[in-house]
Amino acid sequence: MQNEYSVVAEELAKTFGDFTAVDHVSFQIRTGEIFGFLGPNGSGKTTTIRMLLGLLSPTEGTGTVLGYDIVKQSEKIRKRIGYMSQQFSLYNDLTVSENLNFYGGTYGVGGQRLRERKQYILEMANLKGREREMTKNLSGGWKQRLALGTAILHEPEMLFLDEPTAGVDPISRRAFWDLLYELSHQGTTIFVTTHYLDEAEHCQSLAFIHLGRIVARGTPQEIKETIMKGEVMEIDCADPDVALSTLRDSSLFDEVALYGALIHVVGQDLETHRSTIGQLLREQALEVRSMDIIAPSLEDVFISSIKEEDRKVREEKAS
Ligand SMILES: Nc1ncnc2c1ncn2[C@@H]1O[C@H](COP(=O)(O)OP(=O)(O)OP(=O)(O)O)[C@@H](O)[C@H]1O
Ligand SMILES: [Mg+2]
Repeated sequence: MQNEYSVVAEELAKTFGDFTAVDHVSFQIRTGEIFGFLGPNGSGKTTTIRMLLGLLSPTEGTGTVLGYDIVKQSEKIRKRIGYMSQQFSLYNDLTVSENLNFYGGTYGVGGQRLRERKQYILEMANLKGREREMTKNLSGGWKQRLALGTAILHEPEMLFLDEPTAGVDPISRRAFWDLLYELSHQGTTIFVTTHYLDEAEHCQSLAFIHLGRIVARGTPQEIKETIMKGEVMEIDCADPDVALSTLRDSSLFDEVALYGALIHVVGQDLETHRSTIGQLLREQALEVRSMDIIAPSLEDVFISSIKEEDRKVREEKAS
């Protein structure tokens, strides 16, 4: 029988000397879902994955992957999952086909099954006709799809993808996400880390991590509706750069950020500040085209939960 949850992490923590990289994180991943793990550089994403896969032992806490204990049964876990690490572990001086053969050997996939899986992967990754190309000559998007191909050669129940789309162009990113959907429809559970907020929208559930702590969790919808403290006002006005610094200098709001050519102001009871905002901008002779309270985007929530966590950490240090 399948487990309801493919991953359960309870109070997982990892310290390196006196530095805490992962600070008691807890989360679950439902079997079959795409789970997005978001966080800035150095927030603890890779360290968390390494603990889940038994590559690093947790300082504290417990966890299971596919029902197996992450400390005592990591061998069993690694056989059943596919892992695409942050530095795609491809052999650059092997051809596309040789890389797939190599991973076939690693996962114990050979003979007819290997031939079938290779065909499937070459087609899926749009690498047909490139079997004999040296991996080092492939561009970023091709390498990324080949790395995904090597991670699914043994048809794993679950995939761990650590920033698979970093540094890849938008078209290749889109093609890559189409592959992830396809795998997800076939029933594969997917754990993916990313910096891209637009990719977070593609996930069924999310966790935001900052300074090793989970600062928000839920479906994209839940996160947008319930986590955000405060409202967002979107302002369309002339000279957004000047408007940005004017509104920031007023210190009236929790957050003021540029959103393309628009400004997002985050704060409490923004409707009551409407005339103040208008006045501040008019004093700078900036024409205001519109000011609307809008539903927060994931980016708004992400930035605001990070700021909130920073405030908490400062208060903890001060007390
Ligand atoms: N083996 C280690 N020894 C000491 N510090 C470490 C070690 N591994 C990671 N760290 C530190 O732990 C913190 C979290 O690192 P981690 O690689 O998990 O972050 P990340 O969220 O994956 O970042 P990125 O987005 O840059 O990949 C960082 O400050 C990192 O320098
Ligand atoms: Mg990382």
